[in-house]
Amino acid sequence: MHPSSILDPAGSDAERIALLFWWMTAMVILVWVSVVALTIYCVRRDVDAGSERRGRTLIVVGGVVVPALVLGALLILGLPELRASASPPASPRFMIAVSGEQWWWRVRYLPVGAPPIDLANEIRLPVGERVEVVLNSTDVIHSFWIPALAGKIDMIPGRTTRLFLEPTRTGVFRGTCAEYCGASHALMAFPVVVLEREAFDDWLTAESRPVVMAATAGARRGGELFLENGCGACHAIRGTSADGRIGPDLTHVGGRSSLAAGTLPNDVASVAEWVTDPSRLKPGAHMPAFRALGSEQLRMLAEYLVGLR
Ligand code: CUA
Repeated sequence: MHPSSILDPAGSDAERIALLFWWMTAMVILVWVSVVALTIYCVRRDVDAGSERRGRTLIVVGGVVVPALVLGALLILGLPELRASASPPASPRFMIAVSGEQWWWRVRYLPVGAPPIDLANEIRLPVGERVEVVLNSTDVIHSFWIPALAGKIDMIPGRTTRLFLEPTRTGVFRGTCAEYCGASHALMAFPVVVLEREAFDDWLTAESRPVVMAATAGARRGGELFLENGCGACHAIRGTSADGRIGPDLTHVGGRSSLAAGTLPNDVASVAEWVTDPSRLKPGAHMPAFRALGSEQLRMLAEYLVGLR
């Protein structure tokens, strides 16, 4: 995964923000050097009787004219960024709706002319295509931020905010929650996988399909355990009777690159550990602990979930 840095942009919006940052840094350095130089000059120089008028001129130029020019120039540089970052895609093929929850991400792809597709905790994007992301929250204020791709925006309960993403290169980038939202705020991340357009289309088609039946006997038994233990009351797995809407959709959970919103690797051991006691790994997590399941049952359940691709 690429580091989550605004200085290593991989999206057209992030590139403009990075450029603006460098302009601001250059101006800041210019102002700082000037102030230091003037301070040194004033300290070393003998003050004579006729210097009051020059002093006043210095205050007007250094305190009013120069700051107005510097801030005005930065404003002129920054204003077009506002308009550019709010420009929608010309002919969108799909939209993404993301809802912040304590402490995970509900994701829904909305393809034009096709039914919506529910996912969680990971988004994928085609390179070179501008995509609109519609954001809200069901509990507290979260903030949606993929530093390498674009600016950030709050997810506010009862309100809809929008952000546009336009990746310029493929790779995996880290998305994060940028607003303190409770005990596990720091454990609320998501990978953003940028793919070539064809690979993205194949992935989205696969995601739209219901689940493929488990291949091994252990995984099959894991699927039964999932339903017997009431997991389907909170989680949906399309193609089974599990249709809960409280927790993340798990239809293709095994295909995601992390577990529990960027907290754990997505493998059998981690899934088993998570199901045993989620709030030990993510303080405050709403999912109950399933300590009563034996280690063999946990392994089969985990095998089933990791196999959902
Ligand atoms: Cu969600 Cu911080």
